[in-house]
Amino acid sequence: MRPVFTIVTAAGSGTRLGSDRPKALVPLVGSPLVQRAVAGALACQRITGIIVTAPEGALRDFHALFDDDPRIRVVAGGGVRQESVYRGLQEIPVLAKDLDVVLDDLTPILIHDAARCLTPQRVFNEIITVLEAGHCAAIPALPVTDTQKIVATQPETVCDIPIERVTAAADRSRLRAVQTPQGFHWRTIIDAHRDAIHRWESEAHAATDDAALVEAHGHDVYLTRGSQMSLKITTPIDLTIAQYLLKHAAT
Ligand code: CTP
Ligand code: MG
Repeated sequence: MRPVFTIVTAAGSGTRLGSDRPKALVPLVGSPLVQRAVAGALACQRITGIIVTAPEGALRDFHALFDDDPRIRVVAGGGVRQESVYRGLQEIPVLAKDLDVVLDDLTPILIHDAARCLTPQRVFNEIITVLEAGHCAAIPALPVTDTQKIVATQPETVCDIPIERVTAAADRSRLRAVQTPQGFHWRTIIDAHRDAIHRWESEAHAATDDAALVEAHGHDVYLTRGSQMSLKITTPIDLTIAQYLLKHAAT
């Protein structure tokens, strides 16, 4: 069996959460989000090594959390998520060598947001299984429950009320909301990221997920079953929901 590597992206600042510290260090029922996310990934027995991307200004805190475990490596992230992931990818061959395992073109690489720290093991396992069955890209997703509309690019206002004009309806039955961990074969993801380095020069063009870069390369991306436990903690209400889920929901 091949090794499996995971990048846990945790280098964001958490602007929308509005905490006094980087989002990944915000505690959720006693443990920082990033610590929960890493523990959740390691609970999946197949994961060999983890790279955690950390904000430059919080490297010391991240090292204190993870340096005792030789399977975990902390690297400084970049200005946008795409750059953080690329920095994490560059560290994978180094970690593979240090752990004395072989990294080849088909080695499964999972890319997971620390902000989705309650993701169940089943989600990790299904992604790894699909990659090992030969598909080069697999990501978890859920059907959307709200009816969706496409709007004009320019927002408007009426009496100081922000409004947006609907330009088209979207066919909800064919829409999916995607989550992480997103999984790829090593060759697929490293090539897609190398070719897309120019995109993060402008924040507006940087990719917000890794599958988009792989799709741009013409690869088929497959969806597995996501989970409502994998919600991305983004705003304060998400933290409240996550606290509730952690205490009450069965995964
Ligand atoms: N991330 C990262 N490097 C960045 C930006 C984001 O590693 N330069 C990570 C975040 O830490 C998070 C994941 O990517 O785990 C998803 O990003 P998001 O939820 O947007 O988190 P933040 O960027 O921290 O939050 P915000 O956009 O509200 O500032
Ligand atoms: Mg962000």
